[in-house]
Amino acid sequence: MGIAILNGLLNTTTTTESTTNTPLPTHFSATVRSTSSLTTLQSQFQSHLTTSSLTIHSSTHNHAAITSASTIILACDPTDIPSLLSDPSTRSALCSPPPTSSPKLLISIAAGWTVSSLRELLSPPQESILYILRALPNICATISQSITAIELPSEEVQLSARTRVPQALISLTEGIFSRIGRTVQVRADQMDTFTVLGGSTPAFIAVFVEALVDGGVAMGLGREEARMTVAQVLRGTGDLLLGGEHPALLKERGTSPGGCTMGGLCVLEEGGFRGLVGRAVREGVTVAEGMGRGVGLVNGTGRK
Ligand SMILES: NC(=O)c1ccc[n+]([C@@H]2O[C@H](COP(=O)([O-])OP(=O)(O)OC[C@H]3O[C@@H](n4cnc5c(N)ncnc54)[C@H](OP(=O)(O)O)[C@@H]3O)[C@@H](O)[C@H]2O)c1
Repeated sequence: MGIAILNGLLNTTTTTESTTNTPLPTHFSATVRSTSSLTTLQSQFQSHLTTSSLTIHSSTHNHAAITSASTIILACDPTDIPSLLSDPSTRSALCSPPPTSSPKLLISIAAGWTVSSLRELLSPPQESILYILRALPNICATISQSITAIELPSEEVQLSARTRVPQALISLTEGIFSRIGRTVQVRADQMDTFTVLGGSTPAFIAVFVEALVDGGVAMGLGREEARMTVAQVLRGTGDLLLGGEHPALLKERGTSPGGCTMGGLCVLEEGGFRGLVGRAVREGVTVAEGMGRGVGLVNGTGRK
């Protein structure tokens, strides 16, 4: 995900309408932990290394990279966060009080980590100011087609001068993530729902696609033709919806009396398709809520 964001910032001009005109950073430092990731990054971004817009280091340089930056994107695995953020050198680089350092913006994309849990882990000293924002991209970021939720800071956060995130930094965050797709502003209490709608929907749709393709193959179409057909239909339908087409009207436009689409839809309705999809979303959100509270095995379907 870090590579996708860096790629968007370095290479993409503008993929979709940007929601903000905030100037974006022009110099970047990336750090990774392993030698193999270091080599991968260095070869992928070789052309940028020579223009000095980018430096790539191992995690031993985390302190230096954070110290020299004003905006830090936290993109490691959620399970690595406790060891990373409780490391005294990372913590001191992020939370140095003025005049040693001006306040930094930490943008976390780690699933399941709330702003308050990150702040609790870091526990910045009283005299320091650290702004924390949470953003949640999805897998389509890898082709700069993400929908990324930018979590709006809660009222409680905005009431305190120490934690209040300036509007300019929210715009900056939107600007960064609009380089890898679209952004949407979401309240903290809506993030678990977004996690499923934005994050799980690609997998839900992939299962629907598999079923459609199997149906096509069962009725005589080649697998590749069926897969390409459904994928292009998805892209076209997505563009129609993004263009403002209402899903109910789209359905009505495609259903003529006594026709094949209506016949197929009747079967989906008989099987409780809408109810099942709605329940899948609700189950996913319930699991996401539990994960956020550190509850293990909250997924009822995963219980032994
Ligand atoms: N993948 C998704 O679709 C998706 C969607 C939304 C949000 N997210 C969130 O995005 C984050 C990254 O996910 P991912 O799939 O990109 O994971 P990933 O492929 O495992 O990437 C994590 C990166 O963090 C690096 N890292 C770990 N510890 C580090 C440290 N102490 N210092 C510097 N770098 C360190 C790792 O380096 P090494 O490779 O050298 O170990 C790796 O390059 C996660 O928090 C995830 O919840 C992912």
